[in-house]
Amino acid sequence: MDAPPGWRRGGNLPAELASFIGRGEHLRRLTEMLAASRLVTVTGPGGVGKTRLAVRAAGSQHGRFPDGVWMADLSQVRDPEMVPHALIAALELQDRSTRDRVDFLVDFLHDKELLLVLDTCEHLVAECSELVERLLGGYGVRVLVTSRQPLGLDIEQRLPLPPLDEADAVELFLDRASLVQPDLAPDRQTVAQICRHLDRMPLAIELAAGRLSALSAEQLLSLLNDRFRLLRREAHGVGPTRHHALRATMGWSHELCEADERLLWARLAVFAGSFDLAAAKYVCASDELPEAEVAGALSGLVDKSIVTRTSSSGRYRLLDTIRAYGAERLEELDETAWLCSRHRDYYLDLARQAERSWSKGSRQVYWYLRMVVEHPNVMASMEHCLATPHEIERGLDLAASLWFLWHACGFTGEGAHYLDRALKASRRPSRERCKALWVRAFVASGQGDIEGAERLARRCAEEAALLGDSEAMTYASKMTGLCAYLRGDFPRATAYLELAVKSFRAESGLNPGLLPAIVELAQCLGAQGQPENAEQLLSECLDLCEANGERWVRSYAYWALADVHRALGRTSRAITSAQRALRSKREFHDVIGSLLVMETLAWLLTDGSPDAASAEQAALLLGAAEAGWRRFGLERLFGSPPFMDQSEEAVRRAVAVLGEGAFQEIADKGAAFDLDEVIARAVA
Ligand SMILES: Nc1ncnc2c1ncn2[C@@H]1O[C@H](COP(=O)(O)OP(=O)(O)OP(=O)(O)O)[C@@H](O)[C@H]1O
Ligand SMILES: [Mg+2]
Repeated sequence: MDAPPGWRRGGNLPAELASFIGRGEHLRRLTEMLAASRLVTVTGPGGVGKTRLAVRAAGSQHGRFPDGVWMADLSQVRDPEMVPHALIAALELQDRSTRDRVDFLVDFLHDKELLLVLDTCEHLVAECSELVERLLGGYGVRVLVTSRQPLGLDIEQRLPLPPLDEADAVELFLDRASLVQPDLAPDRQTVAQICRHLDRMPLAIELAAGRLSALSAEQLLSLLNDRFRLLRREAHGVGPTRHHALRATMGWSHELCEADERLLWARLAVFAGSFDLAAAKYVCASDELPEAEVAGALSGLVDKSIVTRTSSSGRYRLLDTIRAYGAERLEELDETAWLCSRHRDYYLDLARQAERSWSKGSRQVYWYLRMVVEHPNVMASMEHCLATPHEIERGLDLAASLWFLWHACGFTGEGAHYLDRALKASRRPSRERCKALWVRAFVASGQGDIEGAERLARRCAEEAALLGDSEAMTYASKMTGLCAYLRGDFPRATAYLELAVKSFRAESGLNPGLLPAIVELAQCLGAQGQPENAEQLLSECLDLCEANGERWVRSYAYWALADVHRALGRTSRAITSAQRALRSKREFHDVIGSLLVMETLAWLLTDGSPDAASAEQAALLLGAAEAGWRRFGLERLFGSPPFMDQSEEAVRRAVAVLGEGAFQEIADKGAAFDLDEVIARAVA
C-alpha cells in the first residue's frame, strides 16, 4: 500500500475500461459549460452515456484545477445520510471528528480549486442539491453532476445528452462486436438498422453486440424486427420511446440468456458495487444453480456484456440499469429476502474473518485494503440488517466486528453512524450490544470525544454486568483507562488499564484489546516517571507484534517507545523509533496516528540544544500537523493535556532557535505541503 496518508491533490477519476467513441460536440460543449458555470448537470436516460461523457470531460480538466478532479459514485449509496460520507471517502479525506459532515466538507473545500464529479444523483436529488448548494460556497469548487433528473438549482446549467449519432452508434457496435468476434465484419447497413432499432442507446448497443458470439448480425436484426414490431403495436403506433428501447433490449437480452444465466443475473442484483467469484458462488448458488455452475454462468454473462469484469482486480460488476433490471426479476422470483440474507451471511462472515485475522495481527494491510474494496457490499448488508427488525443483533455484530475499519483505517464517522443506528434500534442488553458499546466508545475516543467515550464505556460496563459478560467488562475498563489517560488522570488510568491488561492476558492468544492496552498502560507509566517499566511493557508488546506480524499496534508501540527512550536520555534512538512509527502509519492511511507521531517527532528534534536544521524540521512538522488537525476537523491533539504540553514545548524551543518570524514562515510552508510530503522528509 503506497497511497499517502492525508490528502493528495491529483484526483481519483476511474480508468476507462473500454474505448470511448464519438461525442466530440458534447465534449466541447460540456467543457465550455464547465468554464462558464460552477454547476453543470448532464441529464439523460439510463445507459445513454452520461457517466462516460462526464469522466471524459473531467479527465481533460486536470490542468485547470490545482487541487484535482475528484469523482464520487453515488449509485451504491442507499442511505441519504451517507451522501456526505461518500464525498468524504471519494476525496480521500477521513471523517474523524464528531463535527457535522457537511460543515466539515464545506470548511475543507472553501479554499480549494477542484472539480467534483457527482455521478448518479437521481435517487438522491434532494440531498445532492442541498449539499451542492453548500459546497459551492467555496469559490474554487466546480461540480459536474450526472443524473437522470436535474438537481433543480438556479445556477445549474443542464446538458441533456441524446443518444449517439448514427455513425458513432455503428462504430460502437462494431467495436464491441470485435471484442466478442474479432474476425467478424458485419455489414454496416445491417448494423445501422440494428442501431436504429436500439435508438442508438450505447448501453443497448453494447448488449446487442455482445450477442454476436451466438448470432449473426442478420439474425440479430430479424429478432429485433420481430420484437419492435410487437412493441410498436403495444404502443399503438407511437413507436417505442428511448426508455422502451433500452428496456426492450434488456428484456430481449434476458430472454436470450440461458436459464442459469437468467437466474444468476437476477441474483447478482443483490450485490452493491463490485464482487468476486467466491462471493457470487456463495450468495447465488442453490439447487437450481449449483455452485459448480456459477462460474460458467458468470462468464456467459460477461460474454453477453451483462456483467463487466475488471481485468486488473478480477472483480465483477453490473451497470446500474442492468442491476435494476435484475432486481425486478429477483422480485418476480420472490427471492429478494432470501438473497439478501445470503448476502448478509457472506459479508458478516467476511467481517468476522477480517476481525479475527486483524486481532491476531496477521495480514492487516491485506484486510484493510480488502474491506475498503468490499465496503459497498458491507454497507448494503448493514442496511439490510438495520431495516429488518429481527436482524438488529446481526447488525450490531457486523458494525462491531468492523471496529478496526472504523477506528484504525479512517472510517470513523461512518462507523459512528452505523453503530449509533444499530444501538438505537436494539433494546435489550446482549453480548452483541455490549461489544457495539465498547467499539462505539473506541470510535468516540478516536473522534476526540472523551466525554462520549466515557459515557459509552460506563454503559457497556453496566449492561455487561447485567449479562455477566466479563469480556465486555474488560473492554469497558480498557476504554475507561484510555479516557482517563487522555484527560491526564494517570493514577486512575493506570488502575483501569492494569485491570484490563491482566484480564486480556488471561485469555489465550491475541485479542483486539491486549496490545493496545499494553501500549496505553506503558504510556501511563512513562508519564508517571517510570520509563523502565514502560520500556519493559513495550518491548513485550513489540515482541508479540513481531511474532504475529502485527503492524497497526506496532506503530503505536514505536511511538510510545520514542517517549521512553527520550526519558532515558537516548534522544537519537527516540527519533529513530518515532520515524519507524511514522513509516508504519502510512500503510493504513492512519492520519490521526501520523499527526500524533509528527508532533512527538517535532518535540524530540528540539530536545536538548537543537541545531538550526533540526529546529527547521520541527517547525515544518508542527506547521503540517496543525493544518492536519484542522483539516480533519479535530481539536489539536484532542486537547489532551499531556500531548499539548509536549507540542507547546516543541514550538517554544523551535522559536527560540529560529526566531518567531522564521518559525512561522517554515510552519506555513509545512501547512501548505501534502502531509505525505512532510512525512517522507521526516522519515528520510
Ligand atoms: N461515447 C461512448 N463510447 C463508448 N462507450 C460508451 C459511450 N457512451 C456510453 N458508452 C457505454 O454505454 C454504457 C452505458 O454508459 P454510461 O454508464 O455512461 O450511461 P449512463 O447514462 O451513465 O447510465 P446510468 O443512468 O445508468 O448511470 C457503458 O457500458 C458505457 O461504457
Ligand atoms: Mg451513469
